[in-house]
Amino acid sequence: MLQQLEELELNSLQELEGIDHIKELEAWRVRHLGKKSELTKILRSLATFPFEERKAVGAFANEVKAKLEDSLEQKSQALREAQLITAAKVGHIDITLPGRPFPVGRLHPITQTLHEICDIFVSMGFQVVEGPEVEWDYYNFEALNIPKEHPARDTMSTSWVDFETDSGERPMLLRTHTTSVSARIIETTQPPIRVVEPGRVYRYEASDATHTPMFYQIDGQVVDKGITMAELKGTLYEFARRFFGEDRKVRFRCDYFPFVEPGVEMAIECLVCGGKGCRLCGNTGWIEILGAGMTHPQVLERGGLDPEVYTGFAFGMGIERLPMLRYGIDDIRLFYGSDLRFLRQF
Ligand code: DAH
Repeated sequence: MLQQLEELELNSLQELEGIDHIKELEAWRVRHLGKKSELTKILRSLATFPFEERKAVGAFANEVKAKLEDSLEQKSQALREAQLITAAKVGHIDITLPGRPFPVGRLHPITQTLHEICDIFVSMGFQVVEGPEVEWDYYNFEALNIPKEHPARDTMSTSWVDFETDSGERPMLLRTHTTSVSARIIETTQPPIRVVEPGRVYRYEASDATHTPMFYQIDGQVVDKGITMAELKGTLYEFARRFFGEDRKVRFRCDYFPFVEPGVEMAIECLVCGGKGCRLCGNTGWIEILGAGMTHPQVLERGGLDPEVYTGFAFGMGIERLPMLRYGIDDIRLFYGSDLRFLRQF
């Protein structure tokens, strides 16, 4: 049997040697390695051999098989190369032509902006965390001091998920802000907490130059012993300096958000007029960038943290406005129109 295998190997390799056209290789493969080939038949019949012989023949047959497969691969490669060289010589192929460039992808401008913001906060010791886009009413509203009849709900037109509980309530929604992630983090994390929470948010609104029903936000949150408004201002000021440039002026003013007390808004000096007043800033010289504040004691308490021991600050901002301001983009819908002529510019 071993001798038969040896002959088989010799013959088929000799035959392969003689092949000089790629098209004949497949027929050779079927003849010598195919289902009905001599070799396959021997391999199939191994079970009928006595044990010792089965071991020896089996090992050798597999060796032969590997050898044949290798030789086929080498031959195929050699023939393909030869074919190319002939084609080049005859002039069918111009091998001096430059190669065709592969289309190269890139990150979406919103993704780039998110990375840039996260990098800044990571360098200040923050972690990046994510939460679900389909959210419970509890984390989006209730846990943030926005109960059922609270007017703040009216400012965030909500897309509700049509899942109903037995009592007929609809407790599920598409989150309207990433502040929902803050509510989750307080509940599950022991301070010190330093996190930023980027992601998609949804509002039940028609699209226009400044609105889309889906957009991006990033929230941030710090909770620890002894956190004060000074940490809030210092951190956000540093962020604005790094993102908008060293010399950009920053302004804090009082604002109201149910989940912080006191609440503030942060504005930067207008990028177009440098503070003189223009159409972009509505003649005020300032552009509002984010909302922030000291985390409300009730929010901490609901998350299981003692507000007598821990204090914190939080902030949240929309992402699209940032590249819009930086590059002078006047329509937010451009980001989501999938028009490569626009997206390739970033
Ligand atoms: N969630 C608010 C919004 O979507 C923004 C915001 C304001 C987030 C103040 C905060 C904050 O974390 O402290 O309009």
